[in-house]
Amino acid sequence: MDVMKVVLPSGKKVEVDPNQKLRTSLKLYWDELYHPSVRAIHCRGLGSCGTCAMKIEGDLTPPTKMEQWRLNFPPHKNGLEKGLRLACQCKPLSDLVLTKESGKWGQGK
Ligand code: FES
Repeated sequence: MDVMKVVLPSGKKVEVDPNQKLRTSLKLYWDELYHPSVRAIHCRGLGSCGTCAMKIEGDLTPPTKMEQWRLNFPPHKNGLEKGLRLACQCKPLSDLVLTKESGKWGQGK
């Protein structure tokens, strides 16, 4: 099985399956994927809550319609243009470097 290497915001390096959504792989390694206040109430990968948003350097599958929709209203207005992606909606096509902004939705300040 091919794997992609991912650098988490902590600097830790992990390997992920390119055939899985990024969220599915990251859940195994990274408690900070979600802000603590939404860990119990996020949408579980449906693409509707927007709390798995993060900046991702590297190549990913194109944004889904759900991702385009969710990253275009608050707090992620113009999220795609700002470099945000939803980990539950994309798969890795290359090695990646992740940045998680502050805030419940990872929206930053
Ligand atoms: S988990 Fe809700 S949008 Fe990704």
